[in-house]
Amino acid sequence: MATQVPTGVARRHELIRKRDGSDNGDDRPSCDRTVALPDESLLHCTGRTGSRDGQQSPTLRERAGDRRHALGGYRRRRGDHVGCLEITADYEYRGLVAEAWDRLRGDTSAWPDRPFYRSIIEEQGGAALDVGCGTGRLTLDYLAAGLDVDGVDNSPEMLEICRAKAAERGLDLSGRLFEQELDALRLPRRYRTIFVPSATFQLLTDEGAAAAALQHCHAHLEPGGVLVMSFIATLWGNATRPAQLEWSTWRLVAERPWLEQDSQIRRFMRTRYDHAQQLQHEENRYELLVGGQVTHSELHRREPNVRWYTRAQIRHAVHSAGFADVRLTSEFTNQPALESDAIFCVLARREAS
Ligand SMILES: C[S@@+](CC[C@H](N)C(=O)[O-])C[C@H]1O[C@@H](n2cnc3c(N)ncnc32)[C@H](O)[C@@H]1O
Repeated sequence: MATQVPTGVARRHELIRKRDGSDNGDDRPSCDRTVALPDESLLHCTGRTGSRDGQQSPTLRERAGDRRHALGGYRRRRGDHVGCLEITADYEYRGLVAEAWDRLRGDTSAWPDRPFYRSIIEEQGGAALDVGCGTGRLTLDYLAAGLDVDGVDNSPEMLEICRAKAAERGLDLSGRLFEQELDALRLPRRYRTIFVPSATFQLLTDEGAAAAALQHCHAHLEPGGVLVMSFIATLWGNATRPAQLEWSTWRLVAERPWLEQDSQIRRFMRTRYDHAQQLQHEENRYELLVGGQVTHSELHRREPNVRWYTRAQIRHAVHSAGFADVRLTSEFTNQPALESDAIFCVLARREAS
C-alpha cells in the first residue's frame, strides 16, 4: 500500500520546532532549524519489510557487518538508485531505528532517570530487570557499576548492538539478555526490581497486552519486589491538542554525523492522535546522506504506536494486576505526581507473602 503523503509536501519548507525532550528522560532528540524535505518520490514506498522491487530488507548484520562500514554497504547494495524501504515488521526497533538509535539521541549521561532507577535498585537490593533494555543505555551502566541487572527486549537488532557495546566495554552479559515480548515474559529469575524506562510500557497499544504485561511483571517479582515505569503524560507536549486523527506536518527530529566522513543520518517524523482510543500513530522516515545526497532511506510506520493513560487508568491497571502500594511520582523524583507533570513514574509493590 502506498504511503499517503500530501501532494507537494516534500517540496515545502517546513518549520521544525524544537521538541522539548533533551533533558527530561524523553528518548527523542531535538533540533531547531528549517529544512527542506527530500524529493517526494522517496516518500512513496510499497511492500512489507521490503524494498519496492520486492527484495527483503537486509538485516542489520547483513547491512552493517562491521558497523563502521554500514554506509558503504548501503551504497554497494543500491548503486545509484536511491530506494526507500518501508519497514512494518512485528517489532518496531529495527533497521535504521535500531542502528541509529544511540547516535540520534546523542549524550544521555545527564538524563535524570538514570540515578532515579539506580537508587530504587540499590534500595531494593538483589537483582533487577531492565524491560525494553534496547542498546543497553541503563543495563550496561548499571552492570559497570556492579549492580545485578538483566535486560529484556523484543528487538534482536537492539540486543545485538547492546552485546557489541558490552564487548567494547569489557562487560559480561552471559545469561543476562533475553529476546522476549513484555506481554509474554518467561525468564529464569525473579527480581527485586523491574524497571520499564523510556515510556516503553506505552508501546503496548493493545489493552489486553498491557494487562498481560503487568501480570507477567508481577509474576517475575520476588515478594516485596518493586515495579517502576515511566510515562509521558501528554504526547503532544505543550502544543495545542491536535485534531482527531489529523496528520501533523513532517518535522525533522534529529540530524547527526554518521559513520563516515561527510555523511549524516537524519530522522523525520509525523504523528496523529486518536483521542477516543488514546492512541498515537506515527510515521518515521530515516535518511542516510553522503555529500548532502540521500543514499538510503527507510519509512517506518506504526499505527498505532503509543497508548496514553490518565493517572486513574494506569493506577487501576496496576492494581488489577495484583500490585499493592501503587503511587505516582513527579518525573524522576519521590514527590507525588502533579497534573502538570510532562512525565510521571508509577511505582508498585508485589506484596510480601
Ligand atoms: C523507547 S526504547 C528504550 C530503550 C532503552 N530502554 C533506552 O532507554 O535507551 C523501547 C525499547 O523497548 C523495546 N520494546 C518495544 N516493545 C517491546 C515489547 N513488547 N517487548 C519487549 N521489548 C519491547 C524496543 O525494542 C526498544 O528497545
